Amino acid sequence: MLIIDWKPRFDGGVPARQSGRMGRKDRPIERPAVQADPIFAPTVDRLKATLGVDRGMLLPWLHAVQAEFGYIDDRIVPVVADALNLSRADVHGVVTFYHDFRRQPAGRHVVRLCRAESCQARGGKAIERAAVQKLGVAMGNTRADGQVSLEPVYCLGLCATGPNALVDGMPVSRIDAARLDRLIDQVNA
Ligand code: FES
Repeated sequence: MLIIDWKPRFDGGVPARQSGRMGRKDRPIERPAVQADPIFAPTVDRLKATLGVDRGMLLPWLHAVQAEFGYIDDRIVPVVADALNLSRADVHGVVTFYHDFRRQPAGRHVVRLCRAESCQARGGKAIERAAVQKLGVAMGNTRADGQVSLEPVYCLGLCATGPNALVDGMPVSRIDAARLDRLIDQVNA
């Protein structure tokens, strides 16, 4: 019979074997103390007090950081890892896995175009090509003047009225050339 000694990924270096001599891999990882950047220190202190330091609270921590700063700065990753006793790689992996976490500040306006199947079947690809050209920014980027970010989103639950977008968090449906032009005027204003 195959027996798998499974350990959760976020094991924080906790020894798996509780008796006998510990191998090198089982020893707790000793990490140098992480000094929070003064910009982040008050936020980190507040999150410790309000959300606690259980490693299972990583997602609420990251959402709170993004809500406060608008994005998750690379410099706060080691601080969060230290507070929750996770590795930097664990925190970095979560930040980069979820599309909703930003690693750069967003533009003043955020246009999110639906790229899921139903919207694509309703002309979403052509709308995206036109949006890229008229906004002057590639998908997944923020325009150099900081006015607008163009991002993909994968289904807004409004499939019957596609192609759809979210503009600054508000849904816009049945996008055609005329509606796209109005939307672009709105974000360029
Ligand atoms: S596919 Fe676009 S809203 Fe569902």
